[in-house]
Amino acid sequence: MFNNVSAVLVCSLVLFVSTASAGQNAAVAMPDRYSAIASSKVLKDGGNAIDAAIAAQFVLAVTLPEAGNIGGGGFMTIYKDGQANFLDYREVAPQKAHRDMYLDKNGHVIPNLSLYGILSAGVPGSVDGMWKAHKKYGTKSWQALIAPAIELAEQGHIVHPKMWDNIEWRIKTFDEQGIKVNFSKHFGHAKAGELFKQPALASTLKRISKFGRDGFYKGETAKLFSQFMEENGGIINETDLANYQAVWREPIVYNWRDHTVITAPPPSSGGIAILQWLTMFDLVKGEQKLAHNSTDYVHVLSEIGKRVFADRAEYLGDPDFVNVPVEPLLNIDYLKSRAKNISFDKISATNHIKPGLKESTDTTHFSIVDQWGNAVSNTTTINYTFGSGVVIDELGFLLNDEMDDFSAKAGVANVFGAVGGKANEIQPNKRMLSSMSPTIMLDNGNVKLVTGSPGGTTIISSVYQSILNAMEFDMDVKQSVNSARFHHQLWPKDQIEHYSGIDASVLKSLHDLGYNTIQGSFGDVQLIIRSGDKYHAASEAGELNRGMSITLE
Ligand code: DON
Repeated sequence: MFNNVSAVLVCSLVLFVSTASAGQNAAVAMPDRYSAIASSKVLKDGGNAIDAAIAAQFVLAVTLPEAGNIGGGGFMTIYKDGQANFLDYREVAPQKAHRDMYLDKNGHVIPNLSLYGILSAGVPGSVDGMWKAHKKYGTKSWQALIAPAIELAEQGHIVHPKMWDNIEWRIKTFDEQGIKVNFSKHFGHAKAGELFKQPALASTLKRISKFGRDGFYKGETAKLFSQFMEENGGIINETDLANYQAVWREPIVYNWRDHTVITAPPPSSGGIAILQWLTMFDLVKGEQKLAHNSTDYVHVLSEIGKRVFADRAEYLGDPDFVNVPVEPLLNIDYLKSRAKNISFDKISATNHIKPGLKESTDTTHFSIVDQWGNAVSNTTTINYTFGSGVVIDELGFLLNDEMDDFSAKAGVANVFGAVGGKANEIQPNKRMLSSMSPTIMLDNGNVKLVTGSPGGTTIISSVYQSILNAMEFDMDVKQSVNSARFHHQLWPKDQIEHYSGIDASVLKSLHDLGYNTIQGSFGDVQLIIRSGDKYHAASEAGELNRGMSITLE
């Protein structure tokens, strides 16, 4: 039963020798049409996947303010000229941050303080991330790659109905909860179907275009940024900005079945979680074939989820601050021992699922393959929809609320219901734990699949299920992004969240096993799959959901 999963390789810049013919065409799967058009134009003009990613990142900062950003951070998984690499441009806690900064004097978490408003922001990483990606891999000029974003900010873009709905929802919920932020001052006048201009953001982007990284982290932008902080009770200062560094890390490279998976290492929990999930799935099912979204399938994957999230809460954090046991967590004997008491017939008691080692609604994702078969899988975020809700007035961009991804207090859940402990407690300059999981899969050294999604902790389920849909169930790219998904993360106890489209009889059997199920939707998978020698791209729910994929011939 336990035979078809091979060991983890944690390594960087591995050269993969390609032995099959790669796809013959380029493709992008993007969360909106502006980023799809800008990035595919870069590819058509002979730019590579990284050039296209940089253009998309800046465009999304203008046209998808819920998540696209220069005020947040993200992760970029890269496969270029046969080498895997990973760029961590996650935000860090400011120097003045401290472990108990969100607790009152009785040690209770102060509601919403880590989630909204000026104290919820980490030091942004996106601009330095794009700068470092460009320095290492860029072939088009930095200015040319930022130009589409500047134009869209200056001349305006047409507001998609979904953006308008999100703005209305956000303003209403801020009002209801008494959250005092300046969000509506900046976004309240945007109307569906009408042009929306962002002149302050255009000026900031122009400084970034002219001075590169320094146009954001130093000079006028940094001065206005820190002044705004001081005037409004924030703690990010000019030194925090000047010191920010995105870092190149070793991606996790792991053989699953006959494929090589290149995915996010810590400070993401996502790569480890996906690989634990895929591997334990094979271990538990053995030679059986489980029908897609059947009771057995949902139950087994939920049981695995309990174990994955127990490990996540205990062991995962910023590897620059805590020792994250990546190899032990992916060790095949460990995963066998974790999987062995999963039963098809009953659910395990939540309180009995402990971390296993003996020792110690907004993010956005895009996927790109260029004409040479290089790939970028990039997930970027300001955390919750429209981040902290705070716009730095004269700079025109939204600040993240990524501090909520730290564990404000051991065992107290964050907005995504994730709990954590010491490994993910707040420390100055530390990166908060993430679930973002930009992933690339190879077969014979060639890109087979590029995937990723937003959705907080549900990202992990969206990503591994997009992989299983394509690889286990042979779905085409559209079916793989659009078929109903589900998610279980140990807490809330025995709760499965699922899309509509799971059979009523399956839901009934899951209830009989002891689960509660809630219907919802999560994530927005942007997927590219090679079948034969062609890449096919799909954006979940397509234009209805604002997404767009383009396949170039
Ligand atoms: O890094 C993380 O895991 C979260 N900040 C991601 C937030 C997210 O996906 C929100 N989107 N729906």
